Order: sequence, then structure tokens, then C-alpha cells
Amino acid sequence: MIRVGVVGASGYTGLELVKMLMVHPEFQLKYLATTTGDSMIEVLHPSLLDVITYPVEKASVEAVVEHCDLVFLALPHKASMGFAKGLIAQGVKVVDLSADYRLDLETYEEHYCEHEDKEHLNESVYALIEYYREALKTTNLAAGPGCYPTATLLGILPFIPYLDTSAPLFVDAKSGVSGAGKKLSETTHFVTINDNIFAYNPLKHRHAPEIAQKIEKIHGVKMNVNFVPHLIPATRGELVSVYATLKEDIDPLEILKKHYENDAFIRIRENPVDIKSTAGTHFCDIFAMKNGNALFVNSAIDNLLRGASSQALVAANLMCGFSEGMGIPTIAYVP
Ligand SMILES: NC(=O)c1ccc[n+]([C@@H]2O[C@H](COP(=O)([O-])OP(=O)(O)OC[C@H]3O[C@@H](n4cnc5c(N)ncnc54)[C@H](OP(=O)(O)O)[C@@H]3O)[C@@H](O)[C@H]2O)c1
Repeated sequence: MIRVGVVGASGYTGLELVKMLMVHPEFQLKYLATTTGDSMIEVLHPSLLDVITYPVEKASVEAVVEHCDLVFLALPHKASMGFAKGLIAQGVKVVDLSADYRLDLETYEEHYCEHEDKEHLNESVYALIEYYREALKTTNLAAGPGCYPTATLLGILPFIPYLDTSAPLFVDAKSGVSGAGKKLSETTHFVTINDNIFAYNPLKHRHAPEIAQKIEKIHGVKMNVNFVPHLIPATRGELVSVYATLKEDIDPLEILKKHYENDAFIRIRENPVDIKSTAGTHFCDIFAMKNGNALFVNSAIDNLLRGASSQALVAANLMCGFSEGMGIPTIAYVP
């Protein structure tokens, strides 16, 4: 058994990790932590009462090193790298869910803050599973992609060779409120979001440079990514609609089917996708169609799972030599 821990266990992605790790056949939960500790997991998450009982400690690098072979950092950016640098140096495998190890130094510092672990930044592997599977098998540091970049990149990457890359790429994305984490804000207040939908940070959101950078890394082309996220009155789920310009005649569904024929967690749909069919699962559902040279790509994920925790768990499976699908949820919360 591999001993694992979750730092940030009181948060939304932390809870998803605990639920999956409790029943994982090869990972044994050995450490749960938050900022203050001194609690029990079933007190922080009453849904776990009579299901699991486990102490939650105040997070410390020393305790992780003592108890864990691998740790998930379900923390805000900046807090993550503060823990990760000491852990990697002492041989603990790290799967970080924050933005701290996703981007190159220059892009990170332009959009987030000064990087405090430049030493390990270059060692990290971007955990977009279908594109970095092999590299994940040999790394000690996996960087979980952002939820919007996950849904966007899985949808658009197969089409990049067929696009007019001088034309702008428009990414229209919609997310349930859990994408913002558990901390309440004006936009996530019930009265603001109930019966409502609105764009936020249009054309300025930090996930745009992440999408652009990964398109460039994987396909060697620079694209002008126009990203507009919206908040929707749902708890979980993310729907992305990408509008792009084709430079040649293709059959979009055939491209998708061929590209992902060996990927068990990508489902190519014959009709536009919906968030509910992926809620509670690691699946990314994708649909695409064209009108002349206009391409529409439509993808859906559960932001808390494929967009964060189940993708992190798949990365951990690969880092430890286990099969990709071990302990990964596939049954959706439908109806
Ligand atoms: N939500 C999503 O859909 C999603 C998707 C992809 C990636 N992510 C990323 O995943 C990370 C976690 O997101 P989340 O939605 O789970 O956030 P969240 O609900 O706000 O939870 C954050 C957790 O971090 C803990 N924490 C904060 N600072 C800490 C510190 N210095 N030491 C120890 N624990 C600390 C908090 O503990 P306390 O209770 O003690 O404050 C809380 O448990 C973020 O970086 C986020 O950007 C989230």
C-alpha cells in the first residue's frame, strides 16, 4: 500500500479526494490536514459521519514527510508551493491541484505572484492525462491543470492541426459555483447567482494564458485565446463551447473518435454535451460540428473531479505504477 495524505481536506476538492481515497485499493489514507487542524474529517464534512472517522491535523511539512509517500495539495496557489518545495526535497511525491506548478515562470509571475519554488518548477508535469501520461509515470511532481483549461484543451487540441491559427479562438465557458472553492464572495452569494448567469473576468481570466501556453507546448503554435467564463446556478459541472476557424475540410466527429480511440475517460458524443452526464465522474464528454469553415467544439466535465480531484488521482495512479482507472468514478449523478 502507498501511504497518502490530503492537505486542504476541509475544502471542496479535498473532500472529493477523501471520498475516492477511502475506497482506493492501493492508496491508504494516512494524513489529513487544514490550516488549523484540531478536528475530525466527519466534523468538517458531516456527509462523512458514520462512513469514516479520521483526525485532521494542522498542516506541517514534517508530518507529511513522516506519514506519507505521496500527498495531494488541495490548497490555494502560493500556499501550495510553500509546502511542496520542502516535500519534494525530502522525497515525498506531490500532486498539486493549484496553479503553482502549471505554467512557466514568466507566465506564472505575470498572472499570479512571485514564484517561491523555482528549483522544482521545471520538474513538474502538467497532469492533463491524455497528453502527459508517459511523463507522469516518472515524475515526483504533478501539476493539476485548471478546470476550464482541462475541458477546453481536451476539446480543442485534436483540431489544432486543422485550424486557421491566425484567426482568434473564442472559448465560451460556464461553471457551477463550486469551481470558486468554499469561500463565500459577492458573486457566489446565493442571492447573486440563484436564477442568474453572468460572465466574469471576460478576456482577462488567468486560465486564458494556461490554455494558450499548452496549445503552444503541444502543437508549437501560438493562438490568440479569447476566453470568457460564466458562472451558472449549479453546484458542479463545466460546459465549454469553443468557436474556431478551419483551414481545411474535415469531419469533426471522426477526428475526435480517432484521436481519442484509446482513451477510456473521453466520450465522444453524437449530440451537444451536457454537464449532468459527467457529474460525479472522471469523464470528459466532447461533441463537435462545423458550418463551412466555422468549427464548434463542445465539452463537459465535472469541475471537482475531472477538473481537479479525479484527474489528480489518475496522476497519482500513474506516478505509483497503478492502472489509470484504479478507484476512478464512472457513475454519473443522474437524474
Ligand atoms: N474547485 C474547483 O473546481 C477546482 C478545480 C481545479 C483546481 N482547483 C484548485 O484546487 C485548489 C483547492 O480548491 P478548492 O476549491 O478545494 O478550495 P477550497 O474549497 O477553498 O479549499 C481550500 C482548502 O485549503 C486549505 N488551506 C488554505 N490555506 C492553507 C494553508 N496555508 N495550510 C493548510 N491548509 C490551507 C483550507 O483549509 P481551512 O479550512 O483551514 O481554511 C481548505 O481546506 C485551489 O488551488 C483551486 O484553484 C479547484
